[in-house]
Amino acid sequence: MANEARAVDLAIGIDFGGSGIKGAIVDTRTGQFLGDRIRIPTPQPSVTREVMLVMTDLVRRLIDAQTGGPTPVLSLAEAAILPVGVGIPAATRNGTVLTAANIDASWIGFPAEAELALAVGRTVAIGNDADVAGLAEMRFGAGRGQRGTVMVLTIGTGMGTGVFIDGRLFPNTELGHLELHGRDAEERVAESARDRYNLSWRDWASAFDDYLHLLERLFWPDLFILGGGGSKRADNYMQYLTVRTPVVVATQKNNAGIIGASLIAHERRSRVSIAMAGEPFS
Ligand code: BGC
Repeated sequence: MANEARAVDLAIGIDFGGSGIKGAIVDTRTGQFLGDRIRIPTPQPSVTREVMLVMTDLVRRLIDAQTGGPTPVLSLAEAAILPVGVGIPAATRNGTVLTAANIDASWIGFPAEAELALAVGRTVAIGNDADVAGLAEMRFGAGRGQRGTVMVLTIGTGMGTGVFIDGRLFPNTELGHLELHGRDAEERVAESARDRYNLSWRDWASAFDDYLHLLERLFWPDLFILGGGGSKRADNYMQYLTVRTPVVVATQKNNAGIIGASLIAHERRSRVSIAMAGEPFS
């Protein structure tokens, strides 16, 4: 392999977003990509069948890019063992999608992990998109080494939350759906809300600040990390935030979802290998 990464450390990460489905092969020790990331527009409506086809195509293209050409980076044998992780904008449990706030309702109850594993013939792990983006941020970004309660907020089509306690994830918190001003909070504080209501940064930030105060009153976190597309322009609104809790901007930005998804894939494959070697699952 031309790259220093060992095949056993590589995993494919896929981020299923409202407008794009993005993927890359990731070196899970460093969070670096092997080759380019690929983005395919999210089918509209985002029905399970169409999205699964896009993900399958994405995996094939990522593998082809590293195994083809005159000087392949990966051998076919190395490529064959790469597991796939997917961050899904919904609550997920045991490989099944449970909710669908910003995606087609066909996802509710869909056993995405098993279906995608069949389609791509690989180990697959799924998780909530904000949870996996948070994992990447805790491992490689602004949350590195942070103890206590850390809340990673992904500001995008929806409002995602990843909560970490002494570095361990508390999954599926779905705090973007807390009630704020009598409504589902994400209707007012997701990035999409700014466009929908044509809000100035100041007006959007005023609602977002109320949302942070709500989280502060309920959880008393030690740190807020702002991620997702809406964190790219944090310079426009950081000055309007008045919470006592420190607020920092994610460092992995748009790639956190892909990197975090690769981390859960890698973890899943390690667990499968341990189980196959006769060790009990923890
Ligand atoms: C969903 C969450 C997701 C968030 C960000 C919300 O609408 O309910 O599961 O993490 O959007 O995509």
